[in-house]
Amino acid sequence: MAAVRPATLSDIDRIHAVELACSRNPWTRDGIASGVSNRNSIFLAAEDDEKRIVGFVCSSLILDELHIQEVAVDRYCRNRGLGTLLINQLLQTAAAENAKRAYLEVRRSNRAAIRLYEKCGFAEEAVRTAFYGDGEDAVFMSINI
Ligand SMILES: CC(C)(COP(=O)(O)OP(=O)(O)OC[C@H]1O[C@@H](n2cnc3c(N)ncnc32)[C@H](O)[C@@H]1OP(=O)(O)O)[C@@H](O)C(=O)NCCC(=O)NCCS
Repeated sequence: MAAVRPATLSDIDRIHAVELACSRNPWTRDGIASGVSNRNSIFLAAEDDEKRIVGFVCSSLILDELHIQEVAVDRYCRNRGLGTLLINQLLQTAAAENAKRAYLEVRRSNRAAIRLYEKCGFAEEAVRTAFYGDGEDAVFMSINI
């Protein structure tokens, strides 16, 4: 059964591999390392039965606001509830650290991610026109924790 735990610096290579496979604009290895070590970050990793990292979520917690920066699950592990597990665990961790609200931006065309966030209780707040470098709109979503 999959498990979610805080990411550590020894997870960086594997997290980077997942990021490279999943993201249109992947974070660099150094970017991931600074996310993992930043004291304002909540960075969680999902492991499969063999303790191999197959997904992660990264966020920053500033005062009582959580900004979700990235969530990714390896292609061959999708649609099994791992994304939901990562986001729900993140919201629980953030609530324990006194977060009151979480928000994120997601590409308008990213149906899988929008469905995942809706399933976890996020609601659309606004659309930000041409938010991304290639001109695509972002959907801005939030939840009260
Ligand atoms: C978004 C992502 C993390 C979801 O991970 P996952 O482990 O497949 O998520 P879950 O299995 O928990 O599924 C969550 C919901 O999304 C739905 N879903 C999955 N793929 C979908 C698709 N292509 N279109 C619509 N809904 C989809 C699932 O059916 C599920 O809803 P349901 O329970 O009502 O059926 C994964 O698709 C991914 O890594 N995508 C690439 C990276 C990315 O786009 N990240 C988001 C950046 S903002």
